[in-house]
Amino acid sequence: MKITILTLFPEMFTPLKSSIIGRAWKEGKLDIDIVDIRDYTEDKHKKCDDYPFGGGAGMVMMAQPVGSAIEAVDPDRTARRIYLSPKGQTFKQDKVYELVSHEHIVLLCGHYEGIDQRAIDLFIDEELSIGDYVLTGGELAAMVVADAVARYVDGVLSPESLVQESFSENLLEYPHYTRPVEYRGLSVPEVLRSGNHAEIDKWRREQSLAVTKKNRPDLL
Ligand code: ADE
Repeated sequence: MKITILTLFPEMFTPLKSSIIGRAWKEGKLDIDIVDIRDYTEDKHKKCDDYPFGGGAGMVMMAQPVGSAIEAVDPDRTARRIYLSPKGQTFKQDKVYELVSHEHIVLLCGHYEGIDQRAIDLFIDEELSIGDYVLTGGELAAMVVADAVARYVDGVLSPESLVQESFSENLLEYPHYTRPVEYRGLSVPEVLRSGNHAEIDKWRREQSLAVTKKNRPDLL
């Protein structure tokens, strides 16, 4: 799978190079391409933003560099093109499963007050928000989407890691424990040390239900 990220701030994506996603990237299981929108401006001063028509605070990213960058990275329009914005639909686990079925996704990051609407109307398939708050730009949101999708690319994680996790079956995940058995007066629940797998599964399911009821009753 290929994930192309279009941004005015490519240096913000350094964290993607570390940990699990970074390793998969280096091993070629995943292709992540970080593209500087500024390389596509036709302005002689490399300008990519301008004042908003109608007035108001802040600057707006111009349609031309954004449009040219998208056309350069996806000339045949085969990729799923996503604009990260607080106005988008909320990004949820269902969307992760849908996006991983695409060979190529393009994540467009806005900055300042946003992007000229014509670039969105002409070049974008959908808008996604990572939550009901406003960030300074779409870069952190693009990293969230890239990370959540990359986990499901073949070979990035072990298949066992993906079967029982939060949001599968609309339940949050049960608690985990490792050694030692005692830590500051708290013990690992007896059942997890019993070796009785039917009992362990039952306990985990009950814990999943309890944590979902407490933290996210809306999922039940
Ligand atoms: N850009 C700014 N805020 C955002 C959000 N909540 N989600 C996605 N992109 C954004």
